[in-house]
Amino acid sequence: MAEAPAGFVCIDGQSLDTDTAYRLVVGCVAPRPIAWVTTVDAQGRVNAAPFSSYNYVATSPPMLAINIAARAGDGRTKDTARNILGSREFVVNVATEHNMELMHQSAQEFAPDVSETEVLGIPLLTSRHVRPPRIAISPVQMECRLDQAIVLGCGINTLYIGEVVAFHLSQDVYDGQRVDTARMRPIARLGGPFYAGLGEIFHRPMLQRPPGGEGWEPTNTN
Ligand SMILES: Cc1cc2nc3c(=O)[nH]c(=O)nc-3n(C[C@H](O)[C@H](O)[C@H](O)COP(=O)(O)O)c2cc1C
Repeated sequence: MAEAPAGFVCIDGQSLDTDTAYRLVVGCVAPRPIAWVTTVDAQGRVNAAPFSSYNYVATSPPMLAINIAARAGDGRTKDTARNILGSREFVVNVATEHNMELMHQSAQEFAPDVSETEVLGIPLLTSRHVRPPRIAISPVQMECRLDQAIVLGCGINTLYIGEVVAFHLSQDVYDGQRVDTARMRPIARLGGPFYAGLGEIFHRPMLQRPPGGEGWEPTNTN
């Protein structure tokens, strides 16, 4: 096996400064789904901001994880992180082509006492189990309770793991069994100031029975 194939650059991950490491990981780990997160502060003000260092991490019970960094520049805690630690509650709303402009605008650095949802006119719905409201223009809204907050590395990043205590699913994308991703039209974050839609969707038969058996055709294996 060749050790150093021509045309590849090898970068030592351990000696990277934060900016370089960020540029590399957001370029390499792409596309990323976007959690448009709503939280409330101690005064009940609603905060909304997008986070793409995000995924599901467990199914029993369902759990989502979001990595929130300290603010670049002054290292202050972001409002979303402060609110999650204070209330132990948040809502993940799926970012879609339909809500992209407002989602993007909500990433501006507003003062902590300014509500993005008020300033930008983001329509809200009351949640069932948690205080943070849901974003009405998202077809999927997941109410979460904080399970763990794990400080990572040198402390710039914290991973917030939340249990989904309620899924709210628009009938435009949910047929009672499954969410139709193509109809949901989620957007993804790429490296730099770029987003992407779904693009072409490929089908391959499942090779192992997944939980719930969706797409599983046992005759495909022998
Ligand atoms: C699409 C998108 C994805 C983002 N993903 C993250 C992320 O994963 N982690 C993070 O700390 N900041 C992320 N940001 C930046 C935050 O949204 C931004 O710092 C925002 O001002 C935080 O708001 P807050 O202080 O109200 O919580 C992202 C921004 C955009 C536009």
